[in-house]
Amino acid sequence: MMILTINNIRHEVNIDAEATLLSILRDELDLTGTKYGCGEGACGACTVHVNGLAVRSCTTSAGSVVGKSVTTIEGLETNGILHPVQQAFLKSDPLQCAYCASGMIMSAAALLREKPAPSTADINTAMNGNICRCGTYPNIVKAIKLAST
Ligand code: FES
Repeated sequence: MMILTINNIRHEVNIDAEATLLSILRDELDLTGTKYGCGEGACGACTVHVNGLAVRSCTTSAGSVVGKSVTTIEGLETNGILHPVQQAFLKSDPLQCAYCASGMIMSAAALLREKPAPSTADINTAMNGNICRCGTYPNIVKAIKLAST
């Protein structure tokens, strides 16, 4: 058994230490906002925060996050108030199918934590590992700028 802290809640999980964080989130804890895309760390759909940094949960072992703080899209709000990136995505509706949305939002939120007023180049660099099959990248950049200070 291991104890994982997800969205500030401690969860006791009986799992193989080699299980991926993504499989634990989706299959054991029903936190299905985090998406499975490529399973190889290449698309960004599975992005979550570990100690505030954006990581690909499909290539992160559950055992490696014991003792760390994991945040998923379900835990990004604070006291019922959506994160500014969530609000900006709701307001500007930048996506089409939106399968990539939670990964995009988690990567953008990690960027804004580090750089509250990123340049377009900063955004392009930070979001480079998040793929949108609908090709809505210009809208996503605008939404992130809307969320920035
Ligand atoms: Fe993890 Fe694609 S599903 S990066």
